[in-house]
Amino acid sequence: EARPEIGDADYDALYRELEALEREHPEWVTADSPTQRVGGAPLASFRQVRHDPPMMSLDKTHSRGDLVDFDTFLRRQLPDEVWDYVVEPKVDGVAFSLLYEKGVLIRAATRGNGEIGDDITANVKTIRSVPLSLPGAPDLLEVRGEVYMTRSGFAELNRREEEAGREPFMNPRNAAAGSLKQLDPREVARRPLDAVIYAAGSIKGAAFPTHGGMLKQFADWGFKTPPWQRLCVDLPAVLAAIDELETLRHSFPFEIDGAVVKVNRRDIYDRLGSTAKSPRWARAFKYEPERAETRIWKITVQVGRTGVLTPVAELDPVVLAGSEIARATLHNADEIARKDIRIGDRVWVVKAGDVIPAIESVLTDKRDGTETVFAMPETCPVCGGPVARLGDEVAQRCTNPACPAQRVGRLEHFASRDALDIRAIGGKVAEALVAQEWVKDPLDLFSLSLPQLEAFRIGDEATGSRKFGKNAQTALEALEAAKALPLDRWLFATGIPNIGVTVAEQIASAHARFSELPNSPILTAVLRLGELYDQAASENPRSTLNRPKDDAEREERQTRFNRVCGEIGVLGDTLVAAGVATKTPGTALPPLYSSVIKTEAAKSALAFFASDYGKGYLERLRALGIDPQAKPKSVPAADAPLAGVTFVLTGTLSQPRPEFAARIKAAGGTVQEAVSKNTRYLVAGAEAGTSKISKARSLGTTVLDEAGLLALLAGTSVPAPAPQSAAQPVKQAKAKASTEPYRQQELF
Ligand code: IVH
Repeated sequence: EARPEIGDADYDALYRELEALEREHPEWVTADSPTQRVGGAPLASFRQVRHDPPMMSLDKTHSRGDLVDFDTFLRRQLPDEVWDYVVEPKVDGVAFSLLYEKGVLIRAATRGNGEIGDDITANVKTIRSVPLSLPGAPDLLEVRGEVYMTRSGFAELNRREEEAGREPFMNPRNAAAGSLKQLDPREVARRPLDAVIYAAGSIKGAAFPTHGGMLKQFADWGFKTPPWQRLCVDLPAVLAAIDELETLRHSFPFEIDGAVVKVNRRDIYDRLGSTAKSPRWARAFKYEPERAETRIWKITVQVGRTGVLTPVAELDPVVLAGSEIARATLHNADEIARKDIRIGDRVWVVKAGDVIPAIESVLTDKRDGTETVFAMPETCPVCGGPVARLGDEVAQRCTNPACPAQRVGRLEHFASRDALDIRAIGGKVAEALVAQEWVKDPLDLFSLSLPQLEAFRIGDEATGSRKFGKNAQTALEALEAAKALPLDRWLFATGIPNIGVTVAEQIASAHARFSELPNSPILTAVLRLGELYDQAASENPRSTLNRPKDDAEREERQTRFNRVCGEIGVLGDTLVAAGVATKTPGTALPPLYSSVIKTEAAKSALAFFASDYGKGYLERLRALGIDPQAKPKSVPAADAPLAGVTFVLTGTLSQPRPEFAARIKAAGGTVQEAVSKNTRYLVAGAEAGTSKISKARSLGTTVLDEAGLLALLAGTSVPAPAPQSAAQPVKQAKAKASTEPYRQQELF
């Protein structure tokens, strides 16, 4: 209900306390503990589940006349019955189902084709408004509804995606669908998903005579139900409700694409029956999509903080989704060419997820020949500097770092909340500081004095200017505070392309201070690793795309390939040791490392520090005495119960392996991928492979079962080596694969 009983900080404190308690007492962890929402190792694929009864869809209508027919038809079917209708919003998301047994959530699934869907339990558990348990629920309860993303959540997610250099999602529904398809529940937990429940599947041990009553019970159990519902006695009331909902359409935090009309009495559903695909007792009424026709009278070009040139369509103003639109982004020159957008064209404007309006398509048959083709400027429209496409980027950039547009952008970014949070400096103030040449570079802020800033005027004579006045003090205090902010915030504030909040945190976690970055062996290793993988791909003598032409070439390539693979191993292991990469176990060639710092990010960072601007920036930081430090890591104390103890986890445990790995690390232990002579314990869960266990035994590593691990974690005792039978049941079948010792996997 968006009315939290406690604040975020209190919630976080309680959550951390719970986590700590559960770490100390793993036996207290219950399936419905809030800590069990997130976690879970990535899945290889989704299990399929059968829907019983099938998940049907709704017949759609666009006209009110269709609804009259719908009502007339039903009344003729059951002339002796009387009923009301319920009208509720049609939420534009992804249909899903939740299955509760004895009040405990045991399964969540996508609709799929209606008969068979994907098991997305781990993903859905991350949605906070989905109850993990229902006190007092019937023995079996399947509810159905929609997973969606709010417009603001979607905008925020897209901001993060773009910052990380990924393609933004088209609209909130795509983003929700894409998120549910993620195989890594930890990634899903970062997506702003929510869910609403509006229907029932199979139920045993309870009956709901009316739809409205059922929704009421769902809400009492803690489900989110449609936030707007109207009980309508007859069809005119239904039509009025549909109109009312249309006027409210844009006031919901999520997108709705229509109204759903349902017969309220559930006891007559069976008699009303269904068609092959949809029940007869409900209809969807679709509203017109949020688009409007208008004309592009001009195309202008904006210059962003990193110099990217973005063409913008200036439109004859139209009202769309409740607000007036006069501009729409055209993204880049390729997009303009692809849609063949010309100046003077009549176009459809759509609000994709209520963020920035975009041009959907051109009404080419309305052209009269006066339209003109737009060409991207060859020089920067703000500073006149040179424009270039870097590498294989789609975007064109102004390459003059002194460009005023870039200066303002950099200053705003530097002062923004996720960067150094200097609230007094944003928008108009940033523009004025740059225009009056008080600040050319964000670091100039640190040279401003109090009297200077107090006298600073924003705006000009013509439009009326005002003094910065009291804000001067606030700004200087924020700047002083900024000097002490940690490395990740400063790295983000520096505004290097491809380095968003998350990437900055990842890079910061592997470094001690800012001044280390330009010569960072880690960034260099990440970059080099990227190059080596490319080399390995082109040298691989077994490549099917690029076969060696004769034996001599094959041999030469094999030698070079081996050398590259060796180098990859050395660099990869360094990154693993630094805690920024993981190795995929196995004998694949080249060996597979996955680094949290991506090649693009390392490349950008190193290029920045090697550039004249970057060198100057570092020099100035040094002169100002600023060298941001990494946030202190929570290093487990030397007397932590498992300090220095090395583990390997294998087989299926009662919780995902990363969960146990995290607990071992928190207790000071280390988790390795493969058993070696340094491994103290091999924890073998169900179906553990025989090879690891026999290797462990040959090396004298103690083999434990899960209970043994829990005992160690609880610090109660160090169990004796498990007897031969402890790590059971052991899978026997795989013997063939494991007796073939070195089967190289073909990768390229
Ligand atoms: S009732 C048996 N109610 O619209 C029909 N559906 O094509 C159960 N939807 O697949 C669906 N909001 O994904 C129902 N308030 C609502 C809805 C709703 C959105 C979706 C659902 C369904 C599709 C209909």
